[in-house]
Amino acid sequence: MKPSTKIIASRKSQHSRAPAGRKDGWKDATTAIHAGESHHGVSGPVAPTIVRSSTFTFSDTAEMKRWAEGRSSAYIYTRYGNPTLALAERKLAELERAEGAVVTASGMAAISSALLAALETGDELISTRQIYGGSYRLMRDVFPRFGIRVHFVESDLAGAEQLVGPKTRALYVETPTNPTVQVVDLQKAAALARRHRLISIVDNTFASPALQKPLQQGFDMVVHSTTKALGGHSDFIGGAVAGSAAWMDRIRKMVIYLGGCMDPEVAFLLIRGMKTLDLRVRRQCDTAMAVARFLERHPKVARVHYPGLRSHSQHPLARRQMSGFGSMLAFDLKGGLPAARRFCDRTRLFLLAASLGGVESLVVLPIFTSHYKMSPAELRAAGVQPGTVRVSIGLEDSSDLIADLKQALA
Ligand SMILES: Cc1ncc(COP(=O)(O)O)c(C=O)c1O
Repeated sequence: MKPSTKIIASRKSQHSRAPAGRKDGWKDATTAIHAGESHHGVSGPVAPTIVRSSTFTFSDTAEMKRWAEGRSSAYIYTRYGNPTLALAERKLAELERAEGAVVTASGMAAISSALLAALETGDELISTRQIYGGSYRLMRDVFPRFGIRVHFVESDLAGAEQLVGPKTRALYVETPTNPTVQVVDLQKAAALARRHRLISIVDNTFASPALQKPLQQGFDMVVHSTTKALGGHSDFIGGAVAGSAAWMDRIRKMVIYLGGCMDPEVAFLLIRGMKTLDLRVRRQCDTAMAVARFLERHPKVARVHYPGLRSHSQHPLARRQMSGFGSMLAFDLKGGLPAARRFCDRTRLFLLAASLGGVESLVVLPIFTSHYKMSPAELRAAGVQPGTVRVSIGLEDSSDLIADLKQALA
């Protein structure tokens, strides 16, 4: 045994606790803090260790041979796996009620890995049209080059069943949707996929596992931009896929082959973010509701999109399938694009920036960000007006946020 391995071995023997998890029957707030952690009795660090190493030692060639034969789960190289990444994966898996998870370099790396693991040349994919612009552009511009045909349907899945043919392989949805916060019926989507033996994938970025758990509704895989609520502090780019152990093996291979792995330093920030997810999201839901109510009463606002409002056409569905209505909302100004630009240029507290789910409240014009390079017809189909403003609610005091909206709209 080489010395470095000896140190690790003796450290482990010190009154170490087995990694904790859902088996302990915890609620989410507890799970996020303790799942996957194995604390040591004497002088052990409470915070997770960042294993900042690209590669890992073997004690001898016999051990290396065992790894090559698939008989050892030892770490070899961080693109294949790393203890800090593994801790982030365990926590997310527990929060999503999944057997496993794989963290990735970005949300788009997670989405492309999940779809490429599910699809082959000649396959057809059915996707809701109201999805993150980057996911839409991947399906519209890249997949056809690899012989994958994509059919887009509305968020109510009308007509989806009729589109299913012998080549249809997967169903992809995002809920609530970006940017107009439409709600897709997860149970209905999962049932449709089950009836036709389709692989079902859902982007759970907007809600996060704090508000909905699509795998429990029958989905095969959940994808995330962990850049958003899971990280929660706008300080890294990351992604993740969660699902069964069998699916995670396939996703892991895609990440190893395509190279979109997460960095250990980022995994540490993700772990830290997840520990406060529940608290942040609950507070953001309360503030978002207060902001949505304020906007709904404002004379310059034509329409507010927030599933917590009774005026939202899918309010009953959101109430049924989510445990809170989320931190995201959008609104259309009566004055169209000029009014929307004026508003965005005048906010002081709300920062004018893309992305979402952080502690800072943000405003953005989707036509210039997530939905750039889309035709007027595509924008109409996505429910995006030139004067649509998307809002991400952070953790500032709601009275300060509302005061800022008031002055920017004046
Ligand atoms: C809903 C949703 N999914 C996926 C992504 C892509 O994530 P990333 O930017 O981390 O690649 C985004 C990014 O804005 C998003 O809003």
